[in-house]
Amino acid sequence: MTAEKIVAARKTSSRPLAKFPGTLVLLGAGKMGQAMLNGWLARGLDPRKIVVIEPQPSKALKALAHRGLSVNPKGKAASASVIVIAVKPQSAPAALPVLAPYAGKGTLALSIMAGRTLGTLQASLPAGTALVRAMPNTPAAIGRGITVACPNAAVTARQRKQATDLLTAIGSVEWVKDEHLIDAVTALSGSGPAYVFLLAETMARAGISVGLPPALATRLARETVAGSGELLHQSRLDAAILRQNVTSPGGTTAAALDVLMGPGGFEILLAKAIAAATRRSRELAG
Ligand SMILES: NC(=O)c1ccc[n+]([C@@H]2O[C@H](COP(=O)([O-])OP(=O)(O)OC[C@H]3O[C@@H](n4cnc5c(N)ncnc54)[C@H](OP(=O)(O)O)[C@@H]3O)[C@@H](O)[C@H]2O)c1
Repeated sequence: MTAEKIVAARKTSSRPLAKFPGTLVLLGAGKMGQAMLNGWLARGLDPRKIVVIEPQPSKALKALAHRGLSVNPKGKAASASVIVIAVKPQSAPAALPVLAPYAGKGTLALSIMAGRTLGTLQASLPAGTALVRAMPNTPAAIGRGITVACPNAAVTARQRKQATDLLTAIGSVEWVKDEHLIDAVTALSGSGPAYVFLLAETMARAGISVGLPPALATRLARETVAGSGELLHQSRLDAAILRQNVTSPGGTTAAALDVLMGPGGFEILLAKAIAAATRRSRELAG
């Protein structure tokens, strides 16, 4: 490969959305919507190809309007190549009808709404619309989320690639065929950041209870959770091996793990917690 070709290939791989065809409509530019928007722009999506429908546009969104991004356009709408639905599930009945003029033949609708099934989404969009239901998580805000996506039967290979490219803007992407798995995904990775933040909170409180000043305990807990997360991210080793690597037989870590992994400990509690979240996700689905 010539030097020019290598530079061109690098440019394309860091800007995978530079050749995005047609228009992308984003419904709802709150925390998740804005995170995706930032990711798309960073990956080369031309703001002039983006339409955002959002009742209270942020300053950042208004600033993007100066670069050609269209916010709450009036007048006749043309069919979009992708519609991304990022409103709260409870806002969906009021919000989704606005999308009708953008949903044409060949449009892909990608929803990140928790608990809104492919069946419910289908009922709000023209029959036969290609749909992807996706469940991201909050590290999306720093491009380090993980999203699990599930397509309906109308999604083509090209649309699946398009959805992957758009979701990769906020982190990693996994696909599942069985929509029922989304409840367990919601319980594990969707709600998971809250479990990790609780771990940091609880470690800090436990540190205070064994005599550390509160500010030091909080900092130690925060950096330990963040650093261990980063080590896990960068390492090729499984979590269990990384755990074993810091555990000497009869040592301090082993004493703590005897409690955490013993009867009624962390493992059992987390299994119960994730089962409860899975059940709740099933109850809320509609
Ligand atoms: N945050 C998470 O961890 C997470 C994880 C997985 C999935 N999700 C899903 O992601 C979606 C967005 O969550 P979020 O945390 O980003 O919520 P959010 O910050 O409340 O964002 C939703 C946005 O939609 C706007 N909106 C409300 N009604 C609208 C309408 N009729 N038309 C267009 N926009 C409208 C809201 O505006 P106003 O503020 O003016 O109402 C808000 O800016 C939800 O469906 C949630 O289930 C979130």
